[in-house]
Amino acid sequence: MIAYAPWTDPRLARKPGTLPLDPARWLETGADTPGQMARRRDLIETQRSVVLAALPRSATAQEELCKAVADHTGGPVPDDPSPLGQVGRMVQEDFCLLEKHGDEGEYRLTGAILCFPSRWSLAEKLGHPLTRIHGPVPDYSDDLARRVNRLFDGVRAGHPLWRANWTVHPTDELHQPSGDWRQAEDGPLHIRVERQTFLRLPRSGAVVFGIRTFIDPLEALTDAQAVALREAIGPLGADEIAYRGGEDLHRATLAALAGRA
Ligand code: HEM
Repeated sequence: MIAYAPWTDPRLARKPGTLPLDPARWLETGADTPGQMARRRDLIETQRSVVLAALPRSATAQEELCKAVADHTGGPVPDDPSPLGQVGRMVQEDFCLLEKHGDEGEYRLTGAILCFPSRWSLAEKLGHPLTRIHGPVPDYSDDLARRVNRLFDGVRAGHPLWRANWTVHPTDELHQPSGDWRQAEDGPLHIRVERQTFLRLPRSGAVVFGIRTFIDPLEALTDAQAVALREAIGPLGADEIAYRGGEDLHRATLAALAGRA
C-alpha cells in the first residue's frame, strides 16, 4: 500500500488540484521517517550548498518558518547555523519560501531547504518567479500560471492547502538535483509522490511550500492503482513524455503495468 495515489482522485488529478488542509496535519511522518531523516542530515552536512540556499531578503520568513515547525513538532531545535538547516534536520518535509515584495507581480522563490529535489536545481531557480520556475513544464499553461498565482495571493493564515503530484523514476534515489535524466541508473521503476502543502506565514507574509516525498516500487501499487496509472500515462503527449523522462522510460512503465488487471 502506498500513502497517496493522486492519479486515482479526480480532485487531485486536475490542476492545480488544491484542497483544504487540516492545520494539525501540516507535517507527516511514516515508516520511512528514520531513513529519510538520516539521509537529510547527511546531505545537509555533505551537500550543503546544493540543498540549502536563500536570499538575504528571506531572513524574516526563515525565522518564522523555523518557529512554526518547532511549535508544530514540539521538539528541540537542532544545532545549525541557518534556520533552514535547523528545519531540514527537524522534519522530513522540504520547504520552499515564496515571497512577493513591493510591486512584484509574482511570488518568487527566496529560499529553500531542498534535500530531495525531483530533477531540479535550487541554484537555477532561486530568486525566480513562479511562472519562470515552471518554464520547462509542458502542461504549465498560461491559464494554469494565472490560477497558481491567484492561489498564492489567496492562501490565508490558518487555512493551509495541499495537493499532490506523481512521477515514475527508474531509481529509488530521493536526492536528484539535476534535470538530466541520464544521471539515473536504469534501475527498478518507482512511483514518486510529492504531498505538497501551502501555508501562509502571517508575520513575513511568505507562503511556505512544503514537499513531503514518498517513493515506492511500482509493485507496491494495488491492481486498481496500477490500472489507473496506466490510464493516466497512456494519453500523455510527446512533449510530456519527453519532460517525464523520455520514450524508453515511458515504454518500460507501460510494459511493467501491462500485466495488472
Ligand atoms: C498549485 C501550485 C503548483 C502547481 C499546479 C504546479 C505544477 C507543476 C507541474 C505540473 C510540474 C511538472 C511535473 C509534474 O507534473 O509534477 C511542476 C514542476 C515543478 N514545480 Fe511546480 N507547481 C506548483 C507549485 C510550485 C511551487 C510553489 C514551486 C516552488 C519552488 C514549484 C516548483 C516546481 C519545479 C522546480 C518544478 C520542476 C521544473 C523543471 O523541470 O525545471 N511548483 N509543477
